[in-house]
Amino acid sequence: MAKSISRFVCTECGYEASKWLGKCPGCASWNTLVEESVPKKKAGQPEVRIPAVPLDSVSGDAVYRYSSGIGELDRVLGGGIVPGSLVLIGGDPGIGKSTLLLQVADHVANTDKRVIYLSGEESLRQIRLRSLRLGINNANIYLVSEQNIELLADYLRDINPALVIIDSIQTVYTSGVSSIPGSIAQLRECTARITDLAKKTDIPVFLVGHVTKEGSLAGPRVLEHMVDVVIYFEGEKNFTLRMLRGVKNRFGSTDEIGLMEMSGQGLVEVLDPAYVFLGHSSSASSGVAIAASYEGSRPVLVEIQSLVVSSGPGYARRMASGIDQNRLALIIAVLEKRRGYPLASHDVYLKVTGGLFTRDPSVDLGIAAAIISSYREKTLPRDTIFIGELSLSGQVRSVPFLEQRLKEADRMGFKRVVLPRSASAREGLPGSDFEIIEVETIDDFVETIAEG
Ligand code: TYD
Ligand code: MG
Repeated sequence: MAKSISRFVCTECGYEASKWLGKCPGCASWNTLVEESVPKKKAGQPEVRIPAVPLDSVSGDAVYRYSSGIGELDRVLGGGIVPGSLVLIGGDPGIGKSTLLLQVADHVANTDKRVIYLSGEESLRQIRLRSLRLGINNANIYLVSEQNIELLADYLRDINPALVIIDSIQTVYTSGVSSIPGSIAQLRECTARITDLAKKTDIPVFLVGHVTKEGSLAGPRVLEHMVDVVIYFEGEKNFTLRMLRGVKNRFGSTDEIGLMEMSGQGLVEVLDPAYVFLGHSSSASSGVAIAASYEGSRPVLVEIQSLVVSSGPGYARRMASGIDQNRLALIIAVLEKRRGYPLASHDVYLKVTGGLFTRDPSVDLGIAAAIISSYREKTLPRDTIFIGELSLSGQVRSVPFLEQRLKEADRMGFKRVVLPRSASAREGLPGSDFEIIEVETIDDFVETIAEG
């Protein structure tokens, strides 16, 4: 008899090695390789061979999608649920994944379709209690308390659902693999089986995945390559705001964010995204600036807070939350080199409020304004919006979607905007009564506004 073979797989990136290594060559994480046995492969030809087709004979119709019933989720999915797709929803325990998916199940079931909700995580009673709390009482939702994924095919045949929800992928197993549920081998084998079923039947599947670094539960990282869409459900536990963020999407853009709020009756959509990221303090303080970021397909106004304090001996600290640390370093360097602010001897802390992570470079000017304001301990007017990207040479560069950003700022009652001086910036300005201040370089900016 052949000896059973084992391999070592990284729980972070899925790198495979034949022997144990302390540091993963794939992602450079330490101590992440775990041993697993290689599942037995069936030898020989597969039973059916899918014929190759000429490109011009394939129908070019747009992908058919149907709504999840939650507009913000549809937005992140790229316009709705695609039949046969596998969607992984990752997030910390308790963030609201089960709540979200039960609500989706309800919406889909209300359109006369059946939904299977397979839970290996909670008992039927627990799910029932949640559904009562959410006011969901739908006979088209079929609860399955089963952990063996091989039985899923039978359930699909019996119930013929339009949607399958598996809560969570870490709790299901297949007997083809000897390791425990949640191990890398199980995760991969189960996901492969589910993918196979989804593609064959054209039934979409939502998978819940926990993001846990510790313990034997693997993060959903290794699954990301296997599914069509990966969405992270995020938020700070103590706050009600929740964010859906696409990190991979074979059917749409990953720039979109979906915003929801956890209420007593489950999750509700945030219909006015401009509002949620603005601070609610009425008194002005130094180090605070408002910027108009653009996330996916809509403008979002964000409050940027900065704290500049003189540092002790050694390197000055830079801490950024909500923007890339390197962008902060770059803006600090520009301010230091072009304007001579002695920031090398100051710690700089920066935060985008509300938990948003923005990659939009147009918030550069807002960041610079916040830093200067904190350094000089002078407050900026609260009715002013800062828009513009900073180049290394100190130029303030124009940004796209200026018109939409300004409309949003106008709607939110802002009175003044500081924006880049360029031909394209002037186009499409709404005829509102904004006071518009154009700046060309960081010098302009500092002399007229920040120190003006
Ligand atoms: P849950 O969906 O169980 O989270 P997950 O599946 O991601 O672990 O949601 C858990 C939290 O949500 C729990 O702390 C209670 C809260 N919650 C509400 O605030 N309102 C509600 O209507 C529901 C159902 C839950
Ligand atoms: Mg749950």
